[in-house]
Amino acid sequence: MPKVKFVPQNLELEVPPGANLRQVLLRNKQPVYSRITQFTNCRGHGLCGTCWVEVDPTSQLSQRTFREKLKLSGRGDSVRLSCQTRVLGDCTVQATAGSLDLASDPTGAKSRRELFGLAWSAGTSLFLAQFGVVSVWFMWPRFKAGEFGGKFDLGPFDQLEVDRMYPDYRQTGRFWLIRLPDRLRSADEKETPQGLLALYTTCTHLGCKPEWVAVNNRFECPCHGSKFQKDGTYISGPAPRGLDRFEVTLDRDGNVIVDTGRLVRGQPHGVDNIKRQDT
Ligand code: FES
Ligand code: FES
Repeated sequence: MPKVKFVPQNLELEVPPGANLRQVLLRNKQPVYSRITQFTNCRGHGLCGTCWVEVDPTSQLSQRTFREKLKLSGRGDSVRLSCQTRVLGDCTVQATAGSLDLASDPTGAKSRRELFGLAWSAGTSLFLAQFGVVSVWFMWPRFKAGEFGGKFDLGPFDQLEVDRMYPDYRQTGRFWLIRLPDRLRSADEKETPQGLLALYTTCTHLGCKPEWVAVNNRFECPCHGSKFQKDGTYISGPAPRGLDRFEVTLDRDGNVIVDTGRLVRGQPHGVDNIKRQDT
């Protein structure tokens, strides 16, 4: 087994042939990186150039990789990127970035250059965080009232003409407005104001638009045959749950508001989308 000698720490180890030098150093708690680059290095991908070591003889090491040639151009052959180097025979590590760091300041005090680096990193992180928050703010979808994704004001409840027999299809909002007996509540215990439900017109299987089939008094999906009761409760077919719906509320003036930005998921098989208030 090849032997690797670490001069800075006066240590000698046997390693398996072909061992990655960076991993050998780290496993044996050798100072590979300088203080700042312990946190900012590329974790062995050959991109940052901070894991350099001085080793000889180079004949006992793998060939310089393409990334080493890029990162170390102009530096002697004995300088290698430890993450790109494999140990093939006995060799000696003369120095690493971390060992020089310790040698220059054994107390661990930070140099002005390091402090400048830390301040720069902190400033950059702060800038990126602010940039991220502002970008999300601008990209976050905001919908106007009356367009899908926003709120629909259907006017005063007492002027709303909702036929108790038939769902009222609202194309712009992509929902059916349904009136059920007032004493019913949704399965999630939220009251359905005046028995109103706004069912989303999208099948919970693969997104087709089910049709209201009056003769069967239920919704039927033309694509794969899922069937749902008038309140969206699952009956049969490949749909995984009942129809989803949008939140319906009454505002202070008694206007019915359907919020198509707030989807309430349909109930799973065997569970009614709504239930009686007194159960
Ligand atoms: S760890 Fe970044 S180049 Fe080796
Ligand atoms: S999309 Fe409706 S059943 Fe498949």
